[in-house]
Amino acid sequence: MLAKVHSGAVLGVDGLSVMVEVDLALGLPMFTTVGLPDGSVRESRERVKAAIKNCGYDFPPKRITVNLAPADIKKGGAGFDLPIALGILAAGELFDPTKLLNYAIIGELSLDGAVRPVPGVLPITLNAKEQGLKGILVPDDNKLEAAVVQGIEVIAVTSLHQAVGFLAGKIHCDPVSPEQDDLLFVNAVYDVDFQEVKGQEHVKRAFEIAASGGHNVSLKGPPGSGKTMLARRLPTILPGMSFDEALETTKIYSIAGRVTTDTPLIAIRPFRAPHHTISDAGLIGGGQIPRPGEVSLAHNGVLFLDELPEFKKHVLEVLRQPLEDGDVTIARANMSLVFPSCFVLVVAANPCPCGYYGDKKRECKCTPQQIQRYGSKVSGPLLDRIDLHLEVGAVPFQEMNEERMGESSAAIKKRVDVTREIQTMRYAENAKIHCNGQMGPSEIVKYCKLDPPSMRLLERSVEKLGLSARGYHRILKIARTIADMDCKQDLELSHVAEAVQYRRNG
Ligand SMILES: Nc1ncnc2c1ncn2[C@@H]1O[C@H](COP(=O)(O)OP(=O)(O)OP(=O)(O)O)[C@@H](O)[C@H]1O
Ligand SMILES: [Mg+2]
Ligand SMILES: [Zn+2]
Repeated sequence: MLAKVHSGAVLGVDGLSVMVEVDLALGLPMFTTVGLPDGSVRESRERVKAAIKNCGYDFPPKRITVNLAPADIKKGGAGFDLPIALGILAAGELFDPTKLLNYAIIGELSLDGAVRPVPGVLPITLNAKEQGLKGILVPDDNKLEAAVVQGIEVIAVTSLHQAVGFLAGKIHCDPVSPEQDDLLFVNAVYDVDFQEVKGQEHVKRAFEIAASGGHNVSLKGPPGSGKTMLARRLPTILPGMSFDEALETTKIYSIAGRVTTDTPLIAIRPFRAPHHTISDAGLIGGGQIPRPGEVSLAHNGVLFLDELPEFKKHVLEVLRQPLEDGDVTIARANMSLVFPSCFVLVVAANPCPCGYYGDKKRECKCTPQQIQRYGSKVSGPLLDRIDLHLEVGAVPFQEMNEERMGESSAAIKKRVDVTREIQTMRYAENAKIHCNGQMGPSEIVKYCKLDPPSMRLLERSVEKLGLSARGYHRILKIARTIADMDCKQDLELSHVAEAVQYRRNG
């Protein structure tokens, strides 16, 4: 007897249909799994056998062959346990195998027959819907993540026993159905706010520019000046996430097994701050069956690299592709996968190893060579992708003690939303560009025309500061965003004058 069960796996960020075929034949009792299973799938045999027996069903004393089709893609994880067990029971005529045809099924089994959560449920559910299936059976702990997808029935099961009962028509299970709007609304709350930052008005202004135009930021300043505090608050003033953006980001978290039951839809912009000891695989992703790295976990949000000079050079090198393209390619022997990784980059560094070079109150103990070596650790190409270079000084004691709260994130975000709207219209025809920070040379020529006084100011600045062509372009991009914030079509002298302040020194 043969039973077929729809299931799924993930390939990159997308769900992949997998058909689990179970054949029971007469012969010496055996249990073989074919179709490029990896170690974790092969182990499933033991779990499936124990779960079936411990739920009180008979384990068929037959020759069991399980095939996972398509057979040419390597499959990992424990998510096939439940479809395999149900396939065996249906093939053994415990219930009608045709009942399996309407549902995709995914879940890990524990030895006592309980169904445990698995990663990747969101993309697998999206794929099941695209395949036109009526519904999907998922582990109870993954139910909200699956239910984010509308237009497919999500049945949550806690045990093999319950899954059998449902498919045999003996147990009734209501589909899970939260409202998309509720998810988007309930989850879009940050636990930090710009109003907690005292003083630092010029830095806050620069952060508003960064959020408005999607520009990368570099922060330099002594320990305790608030660099980390400021960076953490950047996501709170970025424009709100659309449902599609939230879905894209949640897919990545789903694959990484990081979606929690209280936030099934990630509707706040992620903030990722990997430690400087991270490996390049940790940063861009990797592994036998590739998993997303920090740059993808930061997709649609902020990637913060604190203490930038401490990162290994080759680790920073791998940031180039995501910064240029908004995605990363991970090549494997038989395939290459693309993970989205579009983020605003914020980097922070002290001015020197001791941290106090240039500080008015404290003395720097570093030698000129040490300071020079520290500064040169970070590669030029990375800094070239950063438009806003900010010096963050310590806040004077008096300002720190002021009762008055700063402007709230919500108020800043309101203005950011307006500025983004202008850019959305400007780049409506351009599929690759959504904000000023992404402009290339041809867009800069088109959208950053200068009047004669602005041109003269920029010429003088370039000469005086010895700026490169790239430095010149950076200033124009920032000036474009400042003009947009000012709701002006043309760049004016004041916009350019402010933009020059955020240039990179040297
Ligand atoms: N402008 C500010 N308003 C309110 N609190 C501040 C401000 N700046 C710093 N602080 C306080 O000082 C603490 C340290 O700041 P933070 O960790 O952001 O500094 P840092 O510049 O990242 O330092 P380091 O170089 O050591 O990483 C914050 O947690 C916060 O409590
Ligand atoms: Mg810090
Ligand atoms: Zn120093």
